[in-house]
Parts: sequence; C-alpha cells; structure tokens
Amino acid sequence: MNIAVAGTGYVGLVTGVCLAEKGHVVSCVDLDERKVALMSSGISPIYEPNLEDLMRKNMNRLNFTTNYKEAYKDADVIFIGVGTPEKPDGSANLIYVNGVATQIAKSIERDCVVVIKSTVPIGTNDKIEDLIRTNLVHNVKVSVASNPEFLSQGTAVRDTLNASRIVIGVEEPSVGQILREVYKDFQAPILLTNRKSAEMIKYASNDFLALKISFINEIANLCEIIGADIEEVALGMGYDSRIGEKFLNSGIGYGGSCFPKDTKALHWLANFHDYELKTIKAAIDVNENQKLKLIKKSRKYFDSLKGLNVAVLGLTFKPGTDDLREAPSLVNIPIMMEDGANVKAWDPAGTENFKKVYPNNITYCSTIDETLKEADVCFIFTEWDEVRDFDISKYSQLMKNPIIIDGRNCYNISDVKKAHIIYDSIGRETINSLEAIQA
Ligand SMILES: NC(=O)c1ccc[n+]([C@@H]2O[C@H](COP(=O)([O-])OP(=O)(O)OC[C@H]3O[C@@H](n4cnc5c(N)ncnc54)[C@H](O)[C@@H]3O)[C@@H](O)[C@H]2O)c1
Repeated sequence: MNIAVAGTGYVGLVTGVCLAEKGHVVSCVDLDERKVALMSSGISPIYEPNLEDLMRKNMNRLNFTTNYKEAYKDADVIFIGVGTPEKPDGSANLIYVNGVATQIAKSIERDCVVVIKSTVPIGTNDKIEDLIRTNLVHNVKVSVASNPEFLSQGTAVRDTLNASRIVIGVEEPSVGQILREVYKDFQAPILLTNRKSAEMIKYASNDFLALKISFINEIANLCEIIGADIEEVALGMGYDSRIGEKFLNSGIGYGGSCFPKDTKALHWLANFHDYELKTIKAAIDVNENQKLKLIKKSRKYFDSLKGLNVAVLGLTFKPGTDDLREAPSLVNIPIMMEDGANVKAWDPAGTENFKKVYPNNITYCSTIDETLKEADVCFIFTEWDEVRDFDISKYSQLMKNPIIIDGRNCYNISDVKKAHIIYDSIGRETINSLEAIQA
C-alpha cells in the first residue's frame, strides 16, 4: 500500500517509521525543510528512544519530502499528524489540519482515504471530509477516517508497535476494511466505531488521565497537611484493579503537548454546546496551582530567592523527551529569575530547546554535580533516571545549603533520612536530617 504521512512531529514521524517497519512504503511530508533534510540523512529531528535506529533500519521504505503534491498524488492512504495547538480561548486551533486538507484536495489524482491522527474536536472529521471534497481538483473519491493516536512521548515507538488499542472511526465499512489492511501486522485490538465516537475516545482518554493526576495531586496536598504519606496511599489505592496503579504518581502537575490543551479543548467544546464539564474544569484548575507548588514550598525556607544559587534538575515536562511544551520549568524558572536568583540548570535532553527560550541568565550544566556545586537550594522538576539514581549523599557534599525541593518524589524517605539534607517532596513529611542550616 502506498502511504503518505503529513507532519513529522512526535506522532507523524513515529507513525511513518512504524508503518515502514511493518512493510509499508511511506512518504513522510513536512513543510519544515530543516527537518526534512535531517531525516533524509537518517537523523531524527526529535529525541525519542529507538526512533532513529528504526528509521535508519527502514530507510529503503521511507521517503522524506517537502513536496506534498508528489507524496499525495497517488497515495492510497494519507495520515494527518500535524499539530492542533491551543487557541487563546482554549479551543483547538485547526489551522494546520485545515491546511493539510486543502493541500490534499489539490494534490490527489486517485481515490484515497484520509486518516486523521491529530487530536481534533468532535465533528472535525466530518468537516475535513467536506473541505476536501469541496476543493478537489480531480474527479476522485475521498473518505475521511478518524484514527486517534495514544502514544506517550518517551515511549512512542514501543507504544505504537505494541499499542493498547487501535481505534478506527468510519462512516463507510469499506473504509474500515482499508484501515484494517494497513494495520494487519499490528497485534493490538481494533475498535471500529463511527467518527465522532473515535474522536471522543481520544479526548475522554486524555482527560480521564489528566483528572486522575489532578485527583492524586489534591490527595497529596491533603496528605501533607494531615501527615499521611501519598506514596503509601497511592500504593494502597493501586492494588484495587478498579482504580489501577498507573497515573497515581503525585507531583507538580501534568504538562506536555496533550493533556493541558486537550482538557481545555473538551471543556471549551462542552461549553459551546451549553454543557459545563465540571470535573475537567477542576482538573485544569488543580493543575495550574500544582505547577507552582515548589516555588510556594521554597518560601518556607527563603522570603525570596534573590542572590541565591538555585540548582534546577530537569527542564522537560517528563523524562525520555526533549519536549518542553507546558513544562513546569517554564513557569517556575522565570519566577526564580525575577526574584534575582542565580539559576544553574541541568537536563540530559531538553537543554538545547530551553536555551532557545532563555539563551541568557541561566548557566546550563552538563552534569548534576556541576549544577549542585555551591547551591543554596535544589529544585527537581523532572524525574530523569540520572536524578533518581544520583547518590543522595552527594547533595550535602556539593551544596552550600542542602535543601532539596523535589517535585517528582525521586527518593525514598528512608534513604533521605541518612543523607544530611532538608528534603521537601510532594505529599510526604518534610525530612530535616541536618542539625541546622548553615547560613
Ligand atoms: N505528542 C504526543 O505525545 C501526542 C500523542 C497523541 C496525539 N497527539 C496529537 O497528534 C498531533 C500532532 O502532535 P505532535 O506532538 O506530533 O506535533 P508536532 O508539533 O511535534 O509536529 C507537527 C508537525 O507538523 C508539521 N506540519 C505543519 N503543517 C504541515 C503541513 N501542511 N504539511 C506537513 N507538515 C506540516 C510541522 O512542521 C511539525 O513538524 C496533535 O494533534 C496532538 O494533539 C500528540
């Protein structure tokens, strides 16, 4: 089957590469010439474990191009995986999806199926089908199918090759058959439904996970007040298969390119239909507050961070990615700088992207040791393995004042108690195993 994929971001490129791995010939289209040049020479423009290796392995079935006309004109199936960012009012911005749809309409010269993988508001597939059919240049038949993507950044290749489910939303059974053919070598269960239900499955899934995170964060906040331990509480809850152990890690809130915008977009859509999604609104509000939790905690130790050496461990919104979209670091570091702190930061994948936003006034370090040297306080924003595995005894050796404010609960309380540090984490008792803080 001749397949094209529009957009080579986290979803588009992973989709294209995994389809090639399963034997399809795939043209990956992006408007960004720099990205296309990198991919053509076997380099992935994004950091995603195993992606580059798999891409290189399948180069004989992959083509990277900016020439969308060539790629689309005789494709059997065209996947759309471009971004659907948030508009200022919270609704989804469909400018890129509409853009691709128009390009497809003007390019295709034979019957084809257009598959929307981008997360789009319920009803968008219908509108995109109309838009393409209205703008067709050649006399061909086009059908649109919804096939939302559930991969997580950091495990995107694994998630795609071992998907929990493949959701296909169609209005014509023959279109469903074509997609079954595309996915015939994938082991995942296929759920065939209509387009609106498929679109809703994606939003409902993401919003449910966001809700679960905000719920556990609220419980963590209460644990801190009343002296319970959130790790024990989450463990006890997770044994219940009706609840499940996943997404019960308390922290400083969800970030990334999906949960923040997908909660707001569904809330907006419900409002548009005169319905208030109260649970989702609560999840959004809790998350906004949670992102500032570490700065608020720091006020217990310092009235201001002025003149202090601040060490930041982790910049990305989660480990395993270089993506900074909606990362808590982007909210907190500007506050530290406004306060007048001397900020040193470390991240194994996100530093170059952070430098693009803040090229000056932050010292970027290549090791955790260097970051901690002479620091008055350390903030942990991302639970990278390097942070989890870091020898805790080194905090007191390297820092001027070993105060660790951990937004991801990287360490066991029992280990921390032996480490001669002040350790303030989420939903757990604060540990002060120092005699006193040296000024
Ligand atoms: N990132 C995730 O973890 C994830 C997971 C599931 C679903 N999604 C959804 O998938 C969609 C894509 O997300 P992403 O994170 O991969 O986006 P992204 O921003 O990483 O990539 C989008 C790409 O599309 C390209 N593009 C824009 N217009 C184009 C056009 N007309 N033709 C070809 N390329 C074009 C851009 O240059 C960019 O490279 C979004 O709707 C998102 O909500 C993302």
